[in-house]
Amino acid sequence: MENTAPATQSTSPATEDVTPAMEGTSPAGATDFDVTSDWHVASPYEFLRRLRHERPVFHSEHLGAYVLTRHADVRAAYADPRRFSSEGSLTISRSLAAETRKVLGDHGSFLSSFVANVDPPTHTRLRRSVSRAFTPRAVTAMEQRFRRLNEEVLDRVAPQGGADFVAELGHEPSAKLTARFIGVPEEDEEFVKEHVKDWFMLFLSPQPPDRQLVLARSFLTYLDYVDKLVASRVAEPRDDFTSLMTGLIGTELSHREVVELISTILLGGNDTVPNQLGNSVLRLLREGAWPPAPELIQNAVEECMRIDGSSLGSFRYALTDIDLHGVTIPKGSLVLLSTDSAAHDETVFPSPESFDPRRQNADAHMTFGYGIHFCVGAALARLQLRTALEVLGERLPGLRLVPGMRITYRKSIVGRGLPSLLVEW
Ligand code: HEM
Repeated sequence: MENTAPATQSTSPATEDVTPAMEGTSPAGATDFDVTSDWHVASPYEFLRRLRHERPVFHSEHLGAYVLTRHADVRAAYADPRRFSSEGSLTISRSLAAETRKVLGDHGSFLSSFVANVDPPTHTRLRRSVSRAFTPRAVTAMEQRFRRLNEEVLDRVAPQGGADFVAELGHEPSAKLTARFIGVPEEDEEFVKEHVKDWFMLFLSPQPPDRQLVLARSFLTYLDYVDKLVASRVAEPRDDFTSLMTGLIGTELSHREVVELISTILLGGNDTVPNQLGNSVLRLLREGAWPPAPELIQNAVEECMRIDGSSLGSFRYALTDIDLHGVTIPKGSLVLLSTDSAAHDETVFPSPESFDPRRQNADAHMTFGYGIHFCVGAALARLQLRTALEVLGERLPGLRLVPGMRITYRKSIVGRGLPSLLVEW
């Protein structure tokens, strides 16, 4: 299948296009989402455009959800937590087999008290506590440390002349920054990395039952680890985020809330930013926009998040019957707010499939969400993306894709990330 979106064509003739040969469905002929197809994450834009024009409230049998695709509708839904509830929205465990649920026990609905998974007034209380750690001053203070972490990785890897960007360059600085921020000892970083990967796969990406069991056990091991970390900071506080949160146990937060928060923020550091960085580097290389001009980097970060966001959308539950564009979304339905589609809505972003690092309103994407649940780590994520691109551009100005490499994306409903990206310089 040829990729039909011109802006996603490779600029290198030796590099294969992003969309591999596909059987069954294609975005052109698709009548529903198809998480098992490569186009679902790599290039759904033809399909999403059709939905925006013809069926802006689409019922997906495949996802078991209604899908909103227009920018204005997605934003309005995010802004309306009284009708679009977050309660349980992250616990996409419907696909878990009975055996897996048994193994998970109490934790089958894990994340039940994570800040993104609850509504006001619980949300208001949790959000207030978390926000304490993400003041502008605290975020700015992390820049030098993050720059150094990037320099260290490059000192080690640059002499190789080539690498898997995802495994060797993009992941480590974010993971290490997050680990230090949380207070995870350096020797445990690898453990955390492996387990959060399993957790992500278990809850956010459909898996066969026997694989689910392996992932569920890994997840419980991880949870036990975080639980012990929290207990150790209760006993002996240090200068880290975990201690800041354990200091609120009994007044603002419960022990379980702190465990869920820490586990999830570690996931964020190990996954969302590295995914977005990989997507962004791939985009810049394929557009012939490497190294990015320093004065354009900030806006290029936004344009990369718009066009290749590492988050594809958020789930909500309808708290009442909702009438929209002639369709009634019945009370209790699951609704996917497709920020990926919103970011390609031609009524907001002219020529949406074109990459334009000077685009005036690039930051009108909702890859960080919108409204009361707007990503609390957005400033930190932006700082990391900008800093990483600055350092990489300075140190590896000749960065290029390995010719002939085949690009595939991890299969996920809500996340876009590359398992591997081979580069040389
Ligand atoms: C490029 C990187 C990132 C992306 C694309 C991203 C995306 C998102 C999105 C879409 C939401 C809203 C979820 C919803 O409304 O249901 C969110 C919320 C959240 N994010 Fe991020 N995130 C990123 C990085 C981070 C980082 C680095 C942290 C922390 C260190 C973080 C922590 C959180 C938290 C705690 C929430 C919940 C906020 C609330 O519910 O009030 N994120 N993020």
